[in-house]
Parts: sequence; structure tokens; C-alpha cells
Amino acid sequence: MVEYPAEPFRIKMIEPIKITSREERSAALKRAGYNVFGLMADEIFIDLLTDSGTGAMSKYQWAAIMEGDESYAGASSFEHLSQAMSDIFGFRFFVPTHQGRAAENILCAVTLKHGDYIPSNMHFDTTEGNIRARGGRPTNLVIDEAFDPRSQHAFKGNLDIQKLRMFIEDVGVEKIPFGMITITNNAGCGQPVSMKNLKAVSAVYKEHEIPFIIDACRFAENAYFIKLREPGYENKTTLEIAQEIFALADGATMSAKKDAIVNIGGFLAVNDENMFQAIKNELILREGFPTYGGLAGRDLDAMAVGLYEGLDEDYLAYRLGQTAYLANKLLEVGVPIIEPAGGHAVYVDAGRMLPHIPKEEYPGQALSVELYLEGGIRGVEMGSVAFAYPDPDTGEMIHPEMELVRMAIPRRVYTQAHMDVVVKAFKNIMARKDDLRGYGITYAPELMRHFTAQFEPLG
Ligand code: F0G
Repeated sequence: MVEYPAEPFRIKMIEPIKITSREERSAALKRAGYNVFGLMADEIFIDLLTDSGTGAMSKYQWAAIMEGDESYAGASSFEHLSQAMSDIFGFRFFVPTHQGRAAENILCAVTLKHGDYIPSNMHFDTTEGNIRARGGRPTNLVIDEAFDPRSQHAFKGNLDIQKLRMFIEDVGVEKIPFGMITITNNAGCGQPVSMKNLKAVSAVYKEHEIPFIIDACRFAENAYFIKLREPGYENKTTLEIAQEIFALADGATMSAKKDAIVNIGGFLAVNDENMFQAIKNELILREGFPTYGGLAGRDLDAMAVGLYEGLDEDYLAYRLGQTAYLANKLLEVGVPIIEPAGGHAVYVDAGRMLPHIPKEEYPGQALSVELYLEGGIRGVEMGSVAFAYPDPDTGEMIHPEMELVRMAIPRRVYTQAHMDVVVKAFKNIMARKDDLRGYGITYAPELMRHFTAQFEPLG
């Protein structure tokens, strides 16, 4: 049994939420084209769509917001953020961006040519989209255990070093402008990457002079997993572990909407001065002046405080404990999930839960719709809707390994009772799961289709 960890904070301000009727939810789904992204927030009871930008800021962050310096250039807010950046990440240069994908876009703009390859453990959808949008080919080289839902491997986010070496040999160093790794591995169920693996990946990239860029969205959760699970790190602080991680890399992209617990923000950091010059020019064109980069001064101040709060170990013990609690309770009522629980979310294995619905009829979509209908709960499909894509050579659809529904937990927002409501909804669905039917797509754009696709129920 996993005990629910008491929140290391108390509630000072609340946001009312309301349960709707089944009839209301059914009508809302029809209106939204059976895509939960089309639902309005007030139609939702418990929103586990994302942990991105949905966290509750602390009184210190709100106080920092009042310190925001809105000067166009050289704001003190930028200096506050620079201090946190150098304490934690230690890269020589950085620019703020309005969120993670802006950092990815700029990175790709200044480095990527048509036909280039970008290896990673797994790219998240926006990274994949930004690479593809410039004619690049994102390549996932995560270890095979990542696709075994029952494997209890402690670091299922690890990049397979053997696969990486073969890949580099295959496509050639000149076709790889940079290499990545995502910590924790969001597209791979929020699983962490070990320090040992990070060191090995760094060594391979270095050996081939491929710049190593870390997607750092959930670096603090990853650091805490290392502290919990990797021998030799139990007595290091998460800050020390984070510093050790980033010392291995040449740069990082980050959506601060995750582990910096802000509602908006991100950054792109690098060590190389020439690359930084190119980044600055691109930033000025698309985001803003380098000391604010598409954000308000107050956003930079909230981020500067949040970066440290995200590393707080009492908070991280609660954070990972809450996720493990939900995972365990779902297992108890027979819901197949990806084990062990990741950091920010529980990933339900809709493929295993609904084996009668084929990939082409989107079992994850069917489950996410049913979950909303049952309990006003919003999770997100992470299977063939989000990740299937046409083979660039043959045009044939390539489906992802797993059909998942992600239940992402916003930071410092929901309580144990909310988690129990989610478990109860799943328990009710389990009792009638064989009656669930698949969905067909009636509209979808070419890239990032899950956000705006429209569906119709089949059968
Ligand atoms: N990289 C990873 C690993 C992410 O999880 C995300 C966002 C991004 C990059 C892009 O950041 O949204 O600030 O532009 N993930 C969110 C999610 C959207 O729900 O997992 P962004």
C-alpha cells in the first residue's frame, strides 16, 4: 500500500470547481467533437489534462510578481532569473522564452537543415513537431524496457547507448546538428533517466562532437528520482544532482510551466557563444529582446523563485508520492497502467484495458471520452491520435508502441480526495469496459493533430 503523503503546504486561496450532470457532459462532448481539448474548464471537475502551467504558485512567487520590473531592456527581473539560472543550470548563456516550444523552435531555426536527424530518448510532441516542421527527423532511442508496461526498471527513461552508437554510425555525424535527452521522459510515461545514463549519453555525443541539449522540463522530478533510486546519490541534494546533470550538457530547453511551477515561461540555454549570437537574433525576431524574451518582467521573477521551489525536497517527496498513490490505487481496482509510476502523471494503458478496440479506432480516445462522461475528469490521449504519423517515404501510418491516456497531476493543486474520485470513476468504467467503442477522425491537421482533431463515435 502506498500512503498518501500529507501536503507540505496549506491552502490560502481556493478556486471553486463543480460537478456537472451526465447529460451536460454528454452535450459538451458532442459540441467538442469528442476531443477533450475542446471542453471548457468550467465543464470539468478534475482536470488532469496537463501538469503544464497549471500549478499553484506559492506566496513567495506571488510576492515576486509584485517585484516585476517591466523595463524593456536590462530589467532587474532578468537579473533575478539569471542568478537562479547560474545557481542551478550553470550554462554560460540563456534567453527566456514564452514557453518550451519557443525554445525548441529557436534551437531548430539556428541549427537544423532539411533531412537532419535529432536523436533523443523520446521527443515530446512539440519537440517532434518543431523538428519535423523544418524537415528534420526526430528519432527515439529509448531502452526497450520503456515499452514493457510491467517492467520495474528504475530508469525506464534511459537512452539506449548501443542504439545511439549504431544510429550515429548509420546516418553520419554531419546529419546530426545536436542530440537530445528528455528528463523525465514525458512521451515515455514520465520515467526518469539515471545519472549513469546521462553520463554515458554525454560521452557518446562528446566523442562525436555533437552538441548535447537536455529537454529539462521536469529536471527536478528527475533529480529526486536519482536521489531515491541511484546508489551514491542518497546524500546529495536535488540541487547538487541537478548541477551535476547540467554540467554534462552543452545546453538545455525548458518549459518552466512544469518544474518551475509557473503559469507561463521557459528558456533556451547554451554554452557556445556563436550559437548564442544566432539564438539572440532569432529571439529578437520572434519572441522579444534577450532580457525578457516574450515574457513580462513579473513572469521572470515568478520563474526565478519557482526554479528553487521545484527543487525543494519536502515538496518533491509529496509530489512523487501523490503520483505513486494514484498509480497504486488504480492498480488495486485492476486498471492496467505503466509501472512504476512516473513523476508527473499516471499513464493508463488503454491498449491493454480495451483490447477489443484496434489502434485505428483509438482506444485512448475512447477512454478519455468515457472518463469525462463518467466523472467530469479530463485526461489526455497519448497514443495513435497524438503520435501516429505518415512515413515520410511511403506515406503509410506509423503507430506508436502504446495506446495511453495520461492523467497528469497539476502541482500543488489537488488533494487525496480528488485522487480518490478519479479512482472511483475508473472503477465504474472497468465494470463496463467491454461496451466501450472506438472513434473515427473526421478532421485533423497535418502536425500536432491531437489538439484540434474532431471525432465521431463508431458502432
Ligand atoms: N518538452 C516536454 C518534455 C514537454 O512535456 C513539453 C510540454 C514541452 C517540451 C513543450 O513545452 O508546452 O511550454 O511549449 N508539455 C505539456 C504537456 C504541454 O502537457 O506535457 P511548452
